[in-house]
Amino acid sequence: MDRGVRDGFTTTFGALLATLGSAVGLGNIWKFPSLTGSNGGAGFLVVYLAATLLVGLPVMIAETMLGRTARADAVTTFDRLAPRGQGWWKIIGWMGFAAALLIMAFYSEVAGWVYAYVFKAMMGEIATTDPKAAAVVFGKLVSDPVSSLIWQWVVLGITGVIIAFGVSKGIEAVARKLMPLLFVLLLVLCVRSLSLEGAGRGLAFLFDPDFAKITPAVMLTALGLAFFKLSLGMGTMLTYGSYFREDQNIPATAARVMFADLSVSLLAGIAIFPAVFAFGFEPAAGPSLVFMTIPAVFTSMPGGVIFMTLFFVLTAVASVGAILSLLAVPVAILSERFGLARKTASIATIAMIGLLGVPAALSQSLTAKTTLFGLNPFDLFDFVSSNVLLPLGGILIAVFVGWVYGLAEPEKRMAAEGPMLSRMAIKTAFFLVRWVAPLAIGIVLLNGLKVF
Ligand code: PFF
Repeated sequence: MDRGVRDGFTTTFGALLATLGSAVGLGNIWKFPSLTGSNGGAGFLVVYLAATLLVGLPVMIAETMLGRTARADAVTTFDRLAPRGQGWWKIIGWMGFAAALLIMAFYSEVAGWVYAYVFKAMMGEIATTDPKAAAVVFGKLVSDPVSSLIWQWVVLGITGVIIAFGVSKGIEAVARKLMPLLFVLLLVLCVRSLSLEGAGRGLAFLFDPDFAKITPAVMLTALGLAFFKLSLGMGTMLTYGSYFREDQNIPATAARVMFADLSVSLLAGIAIFPAVFAFGFEPAAGPSLVFMTIPAVFTSMPGGVIFMTLFFVLTAVASVGAILSLLAVPVAILSERFGLARKTASIATIAMIGLLGVPAALSQSLTAKTTLFGLNPFDLFDFVSSNVLLPLGGILIAVFVGWVYGLAEPEKRMAAEGPMLSRMAIKTAFFLVRWVAPLAIGIVLLNGLKVF
């Protein structure tokens, strides 16, 4: 049993890359474009950017710092840091446990579609710029219960194998080497997409905001995306922070990850939206958007089939870091609190996700009509995690750090963390954690859920 033995990142650069690996994933390539498209474009982007800068970044700093201070899983951290008699702060960790399972239930399904598209790209099945033909291929995949389940299980199976063979560090290292290639491929896509006739309309959709489209529900979705993107509000960054070295510069790490992550999302947006308008796709298509539009852009350039295949391979690879970080939360809790060996804890977590994943995977077929609040299981898991649990976790973390744990101790430690940090930057981050984050999240959450 490896209880109590805490591994850690051996270098500060390694910790930065792992954090980046958690943030960058299907969220950039799949979720960001599809939500931007279905929430009106540029206005949504403005709110998302504000949420990332004013709420996401400070919460990321606060959450990571909590983990490094307590050096424990997301539940035990609050046992260690909360004042006597306030054990209920542990709810943050348990909510994170639930959020990780809910997110994985649909994330593994989307990763499954990406795997399936690797083969479809190779066979030339998706080499079309015709919206109708593209919709047929995607529709066939997601409405077939058997293939939906199988692809999800392939993803979970591969994840299980990576963990069981103890090669996650190696795989992550390979993934990191491949990520610059995905970046380059996105750049190529952007150039091609921007040179299509009618590209201007896509750019206007993405960058010329129509503020009338920003409703409370749109604001909540943008805030939820900011949390989802940076893996915040559910203990992932806390758990990763617990493996950070003492000399890791947390604010600088968080800022770098945030900027890199934003760049990838923006590139994906610039690759997709001009093509959406040029080829006559529907910007509000939802989850299918990237699966139809990206192949269309590749189809319109030489060597399309090869690049298309490579693109889906790299996207699948990019999802690995995010998936491993999602598992890290329940695995740390199960192993550190219940004394399970890490491998056993991982397999148990994957089994729970496998069960919860079934209704999500069947959401376009057998469970399409099984709805709650009008949402099928896939959409419900997404909504409850991104738009409820993560913001709620975020507000609790901000209040805990800003008001309960206090800022004196972290301020002292961070000030000692290197020349990159001016006192101004620290003061600004703490002001945001203490005042802006709780108020902004509170108002957006209550409004978005129609509580007032
Ligand atoms: N940030 C990941 C992405 O955008 O793909 C998804 C994610 C990973 C969300 C880990 C939450 C998390 F804890």
